[in-house]
Amino acid sequence: MTSEKSILPRHVAVIMDGNGRWARARQKPRHAGHRAGVKSVRSTVEAAAAHGIECLTLFAFSSENWGRPAEEVSSLMSLFVEALRREVAELHRNNVRLRFIGAREELNPGLVKKIEIAEEKTRRNTGLYLNVAVAYGGRWDILNATKQLAAEVANGDLQVDDIDEALVSAKLQLADCPEPDLLIRTGGEQRISNFLLWNLAYAELWFTDVFWPEFDAKQFDLALEYFARKQRRYGHTGEQIGAAGC
Ligand code: FPP
Repeated sequence: MTSEKSILPRHVAVIMDGNGRWARARQKPRHAGHRAGVKSVRSTVEAAAAHGIECLTLFAFSSENWGRPAEEVSSLMSLFVEALRREVAELHRNNVRLRFIGAREELNPGLVKKIEIAEEKTRRNTGLYLNVAVAYGGRWDILNATKQLAAEVANGDLQVDDIDEALVSAKLQLADCPEPDLLIRTGGEQRISNFLLWNLAYAELWFTDVFWPEFDAKQFDLALEYFARKQRRYGHTGEQIGAAGC
């Protein structure tokens, strides 16, 4: 287990992949894989909170996932509603602040209402900041930020030359979290899949073949150990980093 707080990531982002294959390997329907995945969400949230990690961002439903069979989309939406009903009180007791990111105008109004109630209830909590990405895409997020900046330029509140990286970051969904230091992806694929495209610029990437429903606190610790071994250079040389004592 990683014990040194200084080498813990402040923000961990997770692509939870492999639910369908986990189910197929057990001759179960895909939705059984998603259901089983909720248990891994719970143990990952617990592990992140126990380590004192500041932010955890989970990719639960991408902009592209709308293209899945209607039955699967609907069972995922029902699962989000059910998870909110079952888990919010416990998250609140554990001082977790819950927030959803993504195009919530695309979601069913009933789900949006439950999201808003959960966010309001946990808004003042000071422990783990849990972000759940639903109807989210990294390109959508950047596009959204761009449109907001363009509107400010159009109405004269902002000069084009004043637009810099910090201003773009400030308009993104995760403006109030540090950039993810570590990305975990389960399920064997090694790609970003339109997740936090802007925010992941300097993240360490940790991929595992383990399917999401089998991911647990032990796997989370393996990812943290990997992160602790990495020397983050941000474009500098290893010697420069060593001299700075990082
Ligand atoms: C990817 O596996 C997983 C998803 C699209 C859904 C993730 C959702 C959950 C784990 C449900 C609960 C989430 C919360 C936040 C309560 P896949 O279906 O693409 O798997 P495959 O690649 O094996 O087909």
